[in-house]
Amino acid sequence: MKIKPAEKISGTVKIPPDKSISHRAAMLASVADGTSVIDNFLLSADCKSTLSAVASFGAKVKTKGAKITITGGAFSSPKKSVDCGNSGTTVRLLSGLAAGQGVSAVFKGDKSLSKRPMKRVTEPLSLMGASLRCKDDRLPLGLRQAKLHGINYTMPVPSAQVKSALLLAALGADGEMKINEKIISRDHTELMLGLFGVKISSRGGKIKMKCGQTLKSCRIKVPGDISSAAFFICAALLLKSRVTIKDVGINPTRTGFLRALGKMGMKYSLGRKRFFGREPVSDITVMKSSLKGAVFTKKDMPSMIDEVPLLALCATQAEGKTVIRGAGELAVKECDRIEATYSQLLKMGADIEKRPDGFVIRGPVKLKGASLSGFGDHRIIMMLALAGLAADGKSVLDNTKGVEISFPGFFTELEKHIVFKEKKCAKKK
Ligand code: S3P
Repeated sequence: MKIKPAEKISGTVKIPPDKSISHRAAMLASVADGTSVIDNFLLSADCKSTLSAVASFGAKVKTKGAKITITGGAFSSPKKSVDCGNSGTTVRLLSGLAAGQGVSAVFKGDKSLSKRPMKRVTEPLSLMGASLRCKDDRLPLGLRQAKLHGINYTMPVPSAQVKSALLLAALGADGEMKINEKIISRDHTELMLGLFGVKISSRGGKIKMKCGQTLKSCRIKVPGDISSAAFFICAALLLKSRVTIKDVGINPTRTGFLRALGKMGMKYSLGRKRFFGREPVSDITVMKSSLKGAVFTKKDMPSMIDEVPLLALCATQAEGKTVIRGAGELAVKECDRIEATYSQLLKMGADIEKRPDGFVIRGPVKLKGASLSGFGDHRIIMMLALAGLAADGKSVLDNTKGVEISFPGFFTELEKHIVFKEKKCAKKK
């Protein structure tokens, strides 16, 4: 895809439903008694992987537009291997849920997912009694029927996927489950378990839950995904523009990007706060702002981990030095996002250094158009598209299909709101 420099972005943007919350809604509904209705479900490639995966364990899934109906119940062992596609959340959470349900299964994934570490879930699940096997910490992952028990577990890495896998496993285990987090990761699973009638307490990084509780079906409305809103927030900052984004989930465990940019000088306002279930939601308006460099450390990362490549891009346009530390987890996402962000922004002339756990960036530097690779990673592709809009000269971005993973229609929504310098839209080759 060819990307041309843009003049500005404007208007009111519609973003897709939250990916993390959609995954969890489908999984919890699949083991709940009765029929649950999920409104505004994200029909992206990743969440479709979850829908077909829960169906292969016996859940009855009906799709009518973005309204999904799931009739849950006891899991049965699937006959074929469960294909999780590109989705780390699907395989990690579902291996926990299925382990607790006492079934056998084999989980597989695409090339990118087959390179991602699984020990982070198989190890603690094994402590609960699960029988899980994978070669060299990678997929395919084999699960054998076993009876699980609760444990008291301190998270070695802040990861909502690992925490959620354990909580979902506990639904079918005996005893009590305790999880301790030094840095709190996204808490959608804890909030949604409550919605399905599970008694769970979560305070100051200490989560406690009696194992083996029954879930009651319910109705859920999924808020807009702040990780998708982040692309439009970034675009507004790069193009010194104003945009409003509707119905965005503003759960504080997810809004680290807003806080980080606020520290760098972004001017923004939140509209009236309301709730979709237990999740807070608001409109976000970003105003024309001047950014300055800032320092971010390990404690800042979990609440904005997927937005760090965008923060790096914003930092190239900020006055002074930005340091991002404690983001080593980025290296084991859909691609090595430290290397991908560094190598591509460097090509565009950014003053960027990479570290094993982050970046040092000096700005502002006018980016220049380049031939770019998104490494097939949805978030890197979208970040680079924005970098191309803010650059001098044209850029060419390789394979952009990956955006379907989390943001179907990303380029269409972007084109609706972008004003190009040459009064033309980003054109497909
Ligand atoms: C997710 C948690 C994060 C995030 C991923 C989605 C989730 O991963 O990067 O995109 O839905 O729980 P980790 O839990 O591994 O940090």
